[in-house]
Order: sequence, then structure tokens, then C-alpha cells
Amino acid sequence: MSDHPRTPAHALHLMRRARGSIRPRPLSPREEAEVAGLLDERLAGLFWEQPVMDQRHAIDAAHLVLARRPGARNIARAALLHDVGKRHARLGFFGRVAATTLALLRLPAPGRLRVYLDHARLGAEDLTGADELIVGYARHQDGSRPDFIPAGTWALLKEADGEKHRLADEAQYDVG
Ligand SMILES: [Fe+2]
Repeated sequence: MSDHPRTPAHALHLMRRARGSIRPRPLSPREEAEVAGLLDERLAGLFWEQPVMDQRHAIDAAHLVLARRPGARNIARAALLHDVGKRHARLGFFGRVAATTLALLRLPAPGRLRVYLDHARLGAEDLTGADELIVGYARHQDGSRPDFIPAGTWALLKEADGEKHRLADEAQYDVG
């Protein structure tokens, strides 16, 4: 299970993200080609199994990685794939908000909401056999940096992930 948010400040974050998450922009042909150029067939299959909102979040994250560090293809792959576990929950934006709200309130999440909150572990399982960074970021995205991920790489991925701040040293949960 991922670390859950513990601060109401996350509500503001959810509102900011709402518009883009409810009506995500599908990848353009150019972006589709970028994915094909970065991922092998198996990993690309996982990428395209994601709902559009997660595809959009992932490609935006990969773009930021490559803008900050041109040529960092493996970090870009980690950005593209870090949320593949979310697709298991088959939740839309509002279901994700419900799951996150329950986590905020430290209430048990039933069914698919619970699956959603477990997306980091599930995604890492999906990615077994991929590069250590790819699996590792998916698994630890809401927690602390594991030793095998360099601090600079971790900071870049967190920035690219966009909204995973730590407020008052508490992990913040991301619906995107
Ligand atoms: Fe994310």
C-alpha cells in the first residue's frame, strides 16, 4: 500500500488537477511516436493499457524529464510507466478523488478504491523485469527514495510527476 496523504491541503491540489484529469488530451501522433521510440513492445503495451488521463500525465512527465535532462531516456521511461498500476482500479477522476479522500481521512477503502490506493505495488509487479529505476520509481513513488535511485534522478522524477510534494514532511497523494 502506498503512503497516504495526511493533509487537507491535498484538496487544493485535486481541484487544480481536476480539469485536466476529467478531460485529458489524448496523445498526438508525435507523442505516440515518442512513446514507441522509448519503450519496447511489452512496456509500450502496458503504457497503452492505461486510461488516457494516465497516458497524458505520463507523457507530460517524460517531456519534463527530457527538457531538464536531454538524453535521459531511462528516466523518461520511468516517468512514462510509473502509474501503470492505476489502471487495475478502472477508476475515473471522481473515483480517484473518493479513494484519496478516504485515505486522507484514514478510513478503509473498499473494492476498486483500495486497488487504486495500492497502485504503486501493483505497477511495480507489472513492470517486473524492466530496469531497476523503472520498477523502483513505480514502487516507491509515494514513499521515500530507495538508495539505488540517485538523489538527482529522484528529484527529477518527483518534479516531473508534478504534484507529489511533501508538505510538512508528509507524502502527498496524486490522482493524476
Ligand atoms: Fe504520477
